[in-house]
Parts: sequence; C-alpha cells; structure tokens
Amino acid sequence: MTTLLIGATGMLKAAATHAVARSKKAVLVSRGAEDFSLDSDTLDRKLVRVPRSYDDSAAFLDAVASHAPYDLMLTWIRPPAEILRAALDGMTAPGGRLVEVMGSRSILLGEAGEASIAERRAQALALQPGVVYAQVILGFVIEGEVSRWLTHQEISAAAIAQMERPQARLVAGVLEPWEKRPG
Ligand SMILES: NC(=O)c1ccc[n+]([C@@H]2O[C@H](COP(=O)([O-])OP(=O)(O)OC[C@H]3O[C@@H](n4cnc5c(N)ncnc54)[C@H](OP(=O)(O)O)[C@@H]3O)[C@@H](O)[C@H]2O)c1
Repeated sequence: MTTLLIGATGMLKAAATHAVARSKKAVLVSRGAEDFSLDSDTLDRKLVRVPRSYDDSAAFLDAVASHAPYDLMLTWIRPPAEILRAALDGMTAPGGRLVEVMGSRSILLGEAGEASIAERRAQALALQPGVVYAQVILGFVIEGEVSRWLTHQEISAAAIAQMERPQARLVAGVLEPWEKRPG
C-alpha cells in the first residue's frame, strides 16, 4: 500500500504513524519534511520525504504525482485550494481512500451564500465513484460551562477512524451551538 501524507507532521502525527505502519511506502509532504521523524527507525525507513509547500502548487503537484497513484491519502491543507485538491483526487488508485481533514469553518456557507467548502468537496468526490472519500470536520468540545478545541490525540483518533471505517463525514467533537466555540 502506498500512502500520501500532507500536513500530517503536527496534530496528525499519531494518525500518520498509524497509516505508515500499514503501508509499504509513505510519501510525506510538508515544508519541513526533511527533518521529520516518526520516532521509529522501522517506520522512518518507509518514508519518502518531500519538502514542498502547497503554496507553490505546480512544484508541489509535480513532486506528489511522481509517486502516484496512492491507495490512501491523509490530507490537512489549510487554504481552500480547490484546484490543488482536485488534482490530488486524480492521483488516487482505483478504490483508494481519501481522508480529508478540514477545520470548523469549512462547513460555513460562502459569503455569497454558496455551498461550504466541505459540501463542495463532498459533492465533487461523489462524482468519483472510484474514490472512497472520508471527510473529518474538526469541531470543539463543550465541558460544562466552558468549551475547548480538540486535542491532537482526539484529532488523530478521528482521522484513524476514517481510515479504518470510512464514512462520508465524521465530525470530531461538536459544531453546535456555534456561538459556544472557544475564542
Ligand atoms: N477545530 C478546528 O477547526 C481547528 C482547525 C485547525 C487547527 N486547530 C488547532 O490548531 C492547532 C494548530 O493547527 P495547524 O494548522 O498548525 O496544525 P498542525 O498539524 O500542527 O501543522 C500544520 C501541518 O501542515 C503542514 N503545512 C503547513 N503549511 C504548509 C504548506 N504551506 N505546505 C505544506 N505543508 C504545510 C505542516 O508542516 P510544515 O510546517 O513542515 O510545512 C504541518 O504538517 C492544532 O493543534 C489544532 O488543535 C483546530
């Protein structure tokens, strides 16, 4: 199994570890990829480190495409970057799995009332039956009178759940009531 990991060196490190353990080869892309370690020689040997920024989408996609197709993709990309995301969709192996992590605001309608980025992505992937699409929306946690953002462990656990038992959308924590989200 060949895996692609984008934006997986921070809060998704535990999910990346899980994915690499199940992979023969894992292409890890981040600006600081060359210095990244999974703290295991066995797992690190499977990594192909690609130090690229998705802000330079042409160079980024060229580098990622050179190792395609991918049986599993785990992505956390901050900007909407819909053209870049669509290009990555096309690098999935038949029957491959795309676990796409998105922030809380990804479910908000656009300024002109258009569908949210999370919804637009779900609709785009529904047109690609060869791809198993599993979205993770990062919410928050309400504890009594206070609320907090998710921990890295909670975020990675949601991504791992989507790798293992994919569903169209998994909300980690809650998104409602929106006005209770942490400041
Ligand atoms: N509830 C929510 O909606 C929500 C949403 C987002 C974040 N958060 C919280 O905010 C915290 C920090 O978020 P974070 O985004 O800094 O997450 P992070 O997972 O700690 O780091 C961002 C990841 O994206 C990569 N990256 C960033 N810019 C990149 C670029 N231009 N090109 C390629 N890769 C890039 C980083 O690697 P390199 O730096 O090596 O490029 C890293 O792997 C998290 O701990 C989380 O708890 C909450």
